[in-house]
Amino acid sequence: MYDHKIDAADKAVMYRDLASALRGLVEGEPDPIANMANAAALIWETLPGLNWAGFYRNLGGELVLGPFQGRPACIRIKFGDGVCGTAAATLEVQRVDDVHAFPGHIACDSASNSELVVPIVGSDGVLIAVLDLDSPDQARFDAEDEAGCVALGEILARVL
Ligand code: SME
Repeated sequence: MYDHKIDAADKAVMYRDLASALRGLVEGEPDPIANMANAAALIWETLPGLNWAGFYRNLGGELVLGPFQGRPACIRIKFGDGVCGTAAATLEVQRVDDVHAFPGHIACDSASNSELVVPIVGSDGVLIAVLDLDSPDQARFDAEDEAGCVALGEILARVL
């Protein structure tokens, strides 16, 4: 059993420790579902103020629900739809302070108010999955969270 209790007090230190814990969890494991499952659990246990943390996989040009923590969620999202679909279509991080102001936002959980979605792209430039974090707080994610989660996505891109 892994015990990754990471101190969330200092964000820079927290993201450094989180990246190193993630590397340790996925190193040498080729199964993408196992790696996404452990990554979702690690992020959920470490980042405060989340109500959903997990993955949507790119299965033939459609996002399909992958491993996650939180309430059951929408299963399939088309590229271009909502926050996740926008990240998938543009390959750009979507950091949304108020999801209710985001055109086409898909309300899987009415408790969600802000969201961070990081595209995970393979070395061939093709989208593998998106990492989706939701929070009940307005503007929960800042630039440091974005950079920290992009770094996690880069670790995962090599093992998904
Ligand atoms: N709110 C997301 C859908 C996924 S759930 O948050 C888990 C969106 O608009 O893409």
